[in-house]
Amino acid sequence: MDSDNSITRREFVASSTKAAAGALLLGRMPTIISAKPSLKKKRLAMVGTGHRGTGMWGTSVLASCGDIVEFVGLCDINPGRAETAKKMLSVSCPTFTNFEQMIEKTKPETVIVTTVDGTHHTFITKALEMGCDVITEKPLTTNEAKLRQIIEAQRSSKNKIIVAHNYRYPPTQARLKELLMQERVGRLTSVDFHWYLDVYHGADYFRRWHRLRENSGTLLNHKASHHFDLLNWWIESEPEEVHAFGALEFYGKNHEFRHTHCRPCPFKEKCEFFFDMTKDKRLMQLYADNEHYDGYTRDGCVWKEDIDIFDKMAVQIRYANKVQVSYSLTTYSPYEGFRVAFNGTKGRIDFWMHEKQPWPMESYDEIHVTDSFGKAEFVKLPRIEADHYGGDPVLRETIFKHQSAPDPLKRAANVRDGAMAVLIGVAARNSIGSGKPVRIAELTDLVPQAQKPYAE
Ligand SMILES: NC(=O)c1ccc[n+]([C@@H]2O[C@H](COP(=O)([O-])OP(=O)(O)OC[C@H]3O[C@@H](n4cnc5c(N)ncnc54)[C@H](O)[C@@H]3O)[C@@H](O)[C@H]2O)c1
Repeated sequence: MDSDNSITRREFVASSTKAAAGALLLGRMPTIISAKPSLKKKRLAMVGTGHRGTGMWGTSVLASCGDIVEFVGLCDINPGRAETAKKMLSVSCPTFTNFEQMIEKTKPETVIVTTVDGTHHTFITKALEMGCDVITEKPLTTNEAKLRQIIEAQRSSKNKIIVAHNYRYPPTQARLKELLMQERVGRLTSVDFHWYLDVYHGADYFRRWHRLRENSGTLLNHKASHHFDLLNWWIESEPEEVHAFGALEFYGKNHEFRHTHCRPCPFKEKCEFFFDMTKDKRLMQLYADNEHYDGYTRDGCVWKEDIDIFDKMAVQIRYANKVQVSYSLTTYSPYEGFRVAFNGTKGRIDFWMHEKQPWPMESYDEIHVTDSFGKAEFVKLPRIEADHYGGDPVLRETIFKHQSAPDPLKRAANVRDGAMAVLIGVAARNSIGSGKPVRIAELTDLVPQAQKPYAE
């Protein structure tokens, strides 16, 4: 018989799950429950063994969850990079250049998709067809035709797709979401959201595969899908109509000199955007050492004439619940960060995330809550610099260790969430092309809902 102060297993699970949920709510790593190491580890396979694959989903997953997961296969179109990844992860599994062969031979339970954005749909649909669950990096895909394929594949499969929308997971986002859920400034009516990529980070997108819309769907998709997903999640509604402007007027052909890439560049001395990747051992191992397989140069010239993505973008969004959004993305700012403001019927919430700036930084992040006709409240939160404002470790542990824990902030993202983030970018791109507003319902058979449906 149980003694008075003992708890049943069910109570223990319930209370520890609550504690874990509370910790996750604040963006902290839960310390009370940890999944019991099962005898059989979850079998993972990865396609796309580049920077994100080997880092966030490779060494970091093994470091934090290596007791419950194992890699059974690694696949990349570049055989050298797959071998480099195998060494970086210190694993003994086989490597492949053929995805189907990997699935057939290694029989993974879950496939992690970390290839370039424009290829995600191929691996997501094939993995589902072959009976695997999928964890895919954002953006879910790059255009409406590929998105329709993914939606159909999900409808005819019992397997699950998780879209890794990591920006929902930092502690600052948790606090903003709580304030919005509590209607702290009344009913939300509009949002001002402006994102600044600086001359280092912003420029990097114009050096790499992202510079071609075929690969990235433009930064309205590759980068802004993070931001559009945050908007959908904050506003708790789905986008209905989008009108946008965009141009390429700084990078690419807008310059007097250029070369193929930085290492052999004759303009090194005078180009402010010269990037010396030889100083970064990891980048040299992943990319330079494997260049001879695919000709991909990680330090491509930001002035290349084939660049066909926008470098400044402005988007207006109207949601099905009538909330309006003004959004912009700048890619050559002198400092990095974002500003967001939520206008409600009873006040306004302001938040400025400083990431990199030339003047002294505070050691905390601060949310300002201003009541109409009343006082102002300042919510200070400890600043977390690493891993996407502290979001990556929380997402990783949530996926691998706490998937069945309560999700009070509704942070889990499924195909519909991934789709809605992509659809705003696609609509914005189409609107820039046509000069006209675009309705989200025209792009796929998903009908925008005033109250956002949540992942189960
Ligand atoms: N959530 C985040 O914060 C975040 C951050 C960075 C990257 N990402 C996402 O992660 C993904 C990978 O980005 P990255 O920065 O690691 O790029 P990367 O270039 O380092 O890696 C991409 C890898 O995919 C491989 N690849 C390309 N086409 C392929 C194909 N058809 N078959 C097999 N392999 C193929 C490339 O050879 C490369 O090794 C992208 O979808 C990106 O949007 C997300």
